[in-house]
Amino acid sequence: MSAPTTPIQIQAVPEPGAPVEGCTLVIFGGSGDLARRRLIPALYNLLLDGLLPAKYAVIGLGRKPMTDEAFRDIAREGVIAHSRQALVQETWQEFERHLFYLPGENGDPQTYAGLRHRAEQIERTMQLPGNRIFYLSIPPSSFTPVCEGLANAGLATPPQPKTPYSRIIVEKPVGRDLTSAQAINAVTGRVFDESQIFRIDHYLGKETVQNLMVVRFANSIFEPIWNHKYIDHVQITVGEAEGVGTRATYYEEAGALRDMVQNHLLQLLCLVAMEPPYSLDPNVVRNAKMEVLRCLRPIRGKDVERFTVRAQYAEGTAHGAPVPGYRREKGVSPNSTTETYVAVKSFVENWRWSGVPFYLRTGKALPKRASEIAVQFKDIPQILFNADPALPQPANVLTLRIQPDEGLSLRIISRVPGTRAQTHPVEMDFQYSDVFGRPSPEAYERLLLDVMAGDASRFMRRDAVEASWAWVTNILEGWEQQRLRWLPEYPAGSWGPVEAERMVKDDGRSWRIL
Ligand code: BG6
Repeated sequence: MSAPTTPIQIQAVPEPGAPVEGCTLVIFGGSGDLARRRLIPALYNLLLDGLLPAKYAVIGLGRKPMTDEAFRDIAREGVIAHSRQALVQETWQEFERHLFYLPGENGDPQTYAGLRHRAEQIERTMQLPGNRIFYLSIPPSSFTPVCEGLANAGLATPPQPKTPYSRIIVEKPVGRDLTSAQAINAVTGRVFDESQIFRIDHYLGKETVQNLMVVRFANSIFEPIWNHKYIDHVQITVGEAEGVGTRATYYEEAGALRDMVQNHLLQLLCLVAMEPPYSLDPNVVRNAKMEVLRCLRPIRGKDVERFTVRAQYAEGTAHGAPVPGYRREKGVSPNSTTETYVAVKSFVENWRWSGVPFYLRTGKALPKRASEIAVQFKDIPQILFNADPALPQPANVLTLRIQPDEGLSLRIISRVPGTRAQTHPVEMDFQYSDVFGRPSPEAYERLLLDVMAGDASRFMRRDAVEASWAWVTNILEGWEQQRLRWLPEYPAGSWGPVEAERMVKDDGRSWRIL
């Protein structure tokens, strides 16, 4: 099917809800990578798109001593290198007037007295209403001193009508297992009310991920067939071409299961498997997702070996260039057993999904960056066009492409024109870029705006974080008991280890080739 070549013109509708009030955003870890590569560019794009409130200030807080000017220079470089839209000189000059920097140690009470003083001063001069958002882009070990420091300095005010708000954004990783996640939630929960806590999973801000609910619940054709009667299995793939890069210190402690499955892949699974929520109210949506997590069949004991595969990338090539094996990467232990690839066969044990496997896989150093959800429907009966066992018809597949090449396609079987009774699978394809033209906002743009608006629907609630960790912790414990000295390997630039192939092959299925 050919897609339209001219993007359609769509009139922008105003953002729903009250206009976003002015605020001060304090970034803990302000001199770090996330601030430079994602947060500052996201704010700048919101400004370019006219979505940032008229009154705002950003205070970067970090250990590095730095002036406001030096912070603005770093921010500028970050925007030039990573912004979705190019830097426009006049807008940048306007934007940088709102950026400030405060050096400080997270564990030092003086930091918080200083922060309060600086924030009040900026808010006075810029006539800001005193709403504050604290972004914790720091290791989890610093969450306790930061929360306590904010509380002691009177910066964590409880939610009250008609008073400026305080909100906190918690970056992942929220812990490394169930116990540590509970400890973090307890600390943040002692200081802030749940309605003030925004736990980020940036996948929930991606346009294509937001579209999952729209595809499922704004179309009448999917819901009747979205169940075990018609669906054979679901594959969720989040593939990354990059190796571990410069993040070895973090990654060695995390691995693919904690880094990607506990959050991003399980959230995708929830969106595919959830029951239709009765409203878009954040808690109603989050309750529906929570139900899926509750229904996930625990994988523990002997099942860990049957239902999970972990592996590490070995030496290989990617895009024609040699890639060293994971254990030879800078900062990685030569004896490391940290997985860079994981595949899991999971089941959502409720009426709708009875017996339908959800295969999840993610890895670094794969052939390309490609993420998708593929919903494979059941085979047709072996009659009519499927009568020849030597030539089985491929099943229908609905593919939701998360990134890149964002879009959706449906594989159907068609007759080949001509005199012979021949059939062939064809793809009905929709590509965002063809239809809507303009590039989608980055996930962090959407999510920062959500926090300013107080909309928590695209954030993780405490019970969901803990339920995901509970499920993942069972697997981690099973792996621990295996006491493997070496993990299976896959050559960098390949789609994973043979063990993962075997897992699906034993079920009479195969991984999709992306
Ligand atoms: C992060 C992980 O949460 O997501 C990274 O920590 C990973 O390891 C990244 O590379 C992937 O995000 P995206 O948006 O590039 O798919």
